[in-house]
Amino acid sequence: MSDFLSAYSIQNWLESCPQGYLEDTEYGHAPGQKEPELVLDNPTILRDTIRTTVQLVVGERCALAASSGLINCAPDHGSKTFLATQTLDEARHVEIFTQRLYDLGVKKSELESTLAEYDNPNLVKFAEVLLEKVEKGDFIAGVVGQNIVLEGMAFSVFEMLHAAVGGNNPKFANTLSGTIADERRHVGFGENRIGSLIKEHPERKADVEKMQKEMAYHMLATFSSQFAQSGAAMSEGQKMAQAENGNGASTKWHGTDLATASPEEMESVLSDTVLKEFKVRLGRIGIEYQTPTAP
Ligand SMILES: [Fe+2]
Ligand SMILES: [Fe+2]
Repeated sequence: MSDFLSAYSIQNWLESCPQGYLEDTEYGHAPGQKEPELVLDNPTILRDTIRTTVQLVVGERCALAASSGLINCAPDHGSKTFLATQTLDEARHVEIFTQRLYDLGVKKSELESTLAEYDNPNLVKFAEVLLEKVEKGDFIAGVVGQNIVLEGMAFSVFEMLHAAVGGNNPKFANTLSGTIADERRHVGFGENRIGSLIKEHPERKADVEKMQKEMAYHMLATFSSQFAQSGAAMSEGQKMAQAENGNGASTKWHGTDLATASPEEMESVLSDTVLKEFKVRLGRIGIEYQTPTAP
């Protein structure tokens, strides 16, 4: 337990995160970096970029509500300390992706209406399943739902977006890199802390598996409608990026070239990657992944 405590201490967090990879950043990227003209000057791509960024804000608001809500039901002080650092990480993620919406031209007075206009109802349901557990003070289900399911999903989505923008948007790629580093720490905590709790409380397994199945269902439905809506902008963005000839950064991700893939191919590589990760991570904590019926 003492190794666990020091690995997730505030001291460690300060050194590796704010004084480490976030040092000298501004809203997660290097000062002065801007969204590329490729995005700002094309109405179809711009709208699609706003739509995608809205989902990131919705997911991060959920993570903020979950990580802060779990502090008071955590059974030990080490977990409370870690969740306090995670709460600040998630508040930062909300802030940087909200700032991105402003950088894309959303007016501050129109933030909430923009979120309401573009949020994916499946993602909203996904968040509700998790927050219901948090509100009940269910620490085990809450941590599995947040640190394994929500963040396992976020981790892969961020990585995919990072590969997809390739060399064409260093500002967003930079913002994503810091977020990915944070999520890696959060997922690590989930696996380390919950594995032992599940062993102590095997009676909780069935409930946790049921929640995971519901969350996976809403997640797959989210992917499917997002890619269906983004098809036109995606191929337009791909064509323009190819014409600009990028800077040679690889856009390959898990064997799929995102610069040329169809929306269906992107959806399938993302779903396959996330589900594979779920199975491995849940297996490590003694939970058997439950396949949802296809949405
Ligand atoms: Fe986050
Ligand atoms: Fe996170």
